[in-house]
Amino acid sequence: MDKSKPIVISLGGSLVVPNGGIDTTYISQLNKFIRRKIAEEWRFFIVVGGGATARRYIDAAKDITGEISDWDLDFLGIHSTELNAHFIRTIFRDIAHPRIILNYEKKIERLKEPLVIAAGWKPGCSTDYDAMILVRDYKAAALINMSNIEWVYTKDPNKFADAQPIKKLSWYEYENMIDRKWSPGINIPFDPVATKMAKDINCTVYIIGKDLNNLNSLLEGQDFKGTVISS
Ligand code: UTP
Repeated sequence: MDKSKPIVISLGGSLVVPNGGIDTTYISQLNKFIRRKIAEEWRFFIVVGGGATARRYIDAAKDITGEISDWDLDFLGIHSTELNAHFIRTIFRDIAHPRIILNYEKKIERLKEPLVIAAGWKPGCSTDYDAMILVRDYKAAALINMSNIEWVYTKDPNKFADAQPIKKLSWYEYENMIDRKWSPGINIPFDPVATKMAKDINCTVYIIGKDLNNLNSLLEGQDFKGTVISS
């Protein structure tokens, strides 16, 4: 990959806060990895998802009221992404841009820092869409989607034992495989709203799991495990 351009990572909240609390072991590894790559002159935007925090609040609100709007549910998710983004920003305090991106209409002028942390923005999408905005506005080399989903499969691997991982597919093929309707807290490889924008701006997205050695292979142009979606 081209390291003269920034790389946008959509960091699934499931990697920050899986069920059962913050994954300090993983975040420590991520901390070391990002610092090493920055020393090698890579630059990153990391958009942080809401993880189990978002899903727990969304589910609790639904259980209690039974009739809460998607708009309100999405805001619970957005606030969860903000908490997680502040957590990641705190870890990278000495090298990251001082402000977390919360409003994607305000572009950072004359960015000096090699790392920027971002959170959710508006209801109706996930941080995948926010990450796509950053690719467009900061002319990033790629969007790498890291989460607890390692591949796009031919069908839902949780339901079908014969589901096969797909190495490469087009946006058209991907869009036909997913539910195009948005719903708060959905867990799919890449969200439908972000998919539409990826098609429009002709962006390539790499769906990989959490393995940082695998991320390194992808960055360095070596063989990696994961799905490439492009036009
Ligand atoms: P994400 O879906 O981005 O976090 O945001 P996640 O679930 O941790 O990500 P993955 O699936 O592991 O990659 C959580 C929820 O926050 C709301 C949505 O309801 C989303 O499902 N959200 C987030 C928004 O409404 N707008 C945003 O810009 C971001």
